Amino acid sequence: MNRKQHWEQVYNTKSIQEVSWYQNSPIISLNLIEKIGYDITCPIIDVGGGASNLVDSLIKQSYSNLSVLDISKAAIQATQQRLGKLADNVHWHEKDVTQFQVDNTFDIWHDRAVFHFLTTAEDRKSYLNTLDAKLSKNGQVIIATFSIDGPTKCSDLPIVQYDETKIQQEVQGILQLYHTVSEVHITPSKKQQQFNYFCFKRVK
Ligand SMILES: C[S@@+](CC[C@H](N)C(=O)[O-])C[C@H]1O[C@@H](n2cnc3c(N)ncnc32)[C@H](O)[C@@H]1O
Repeated sequence: MNRKQHWEQVYNTKSIQEVSWYQNSPIISLNLIEKIGYDITCPIIDVGGGASNLVDSLIKQSYSNLSVLDISKAAIQATQQRLGKLADNVHWHEKDVTQFQVDNTFDIWHDRAVFHFLTTAEDRKSYLNTLDAKLSKNGQVIIATFSIDGPTKCSDLPIVQYDETKIQQEVQGILQLYHTVSEVHITPSKKQQQFNYFCFKRVK
């Protein structure tokens, strides 16, 4: 089963509230985006947005230039259905982030639990090349991954755990880490998952 098939199967067989990464409200992401403090017209992309309701919350806060990318059509459709007419104001990309091409750039690049699935140096390089090309000059990045004391798998797939040193090594030359928030996420089945939210600015 390839990567896309895996994720389509997940979203076609589980309810949105049942997946381990489900959050009723993506509070940490929202706080971090608010802290960045960019205007509500700034272009924001949620990479691997899945069926997350981050986009719903950002629309509610009047952010007006939103993009959601996900490899899974089923995940995107679930979010579009939930949003109804509001979905018309969002740019949707059904794509593998490692092969993502788009004309515009983004001021905020948000990724919760996608980068950590890239277990090969080649995939991470593609991801970071795209990020480098598509992040605006003053762009900021939030990448949330499982931490070193977190799970070693997510959705039955192997992941790479990160701490500050390890993630900074990955993005060196492109991004500079300036802030980290640690979280113990409680899954719908009441398991604990240790996350780190890494916040970066572009290297000048
Ligand atoms: C663990 S879920 C996290 C979903 C969402 N970010 C959240 O926090 O609720 C990972 C998401 O990334 C998507 N995904 C996985 N690999 C991807 C890739 N290479 N490119 C784009 N999306 C991907 C999956 O379809 C899934 O929706």
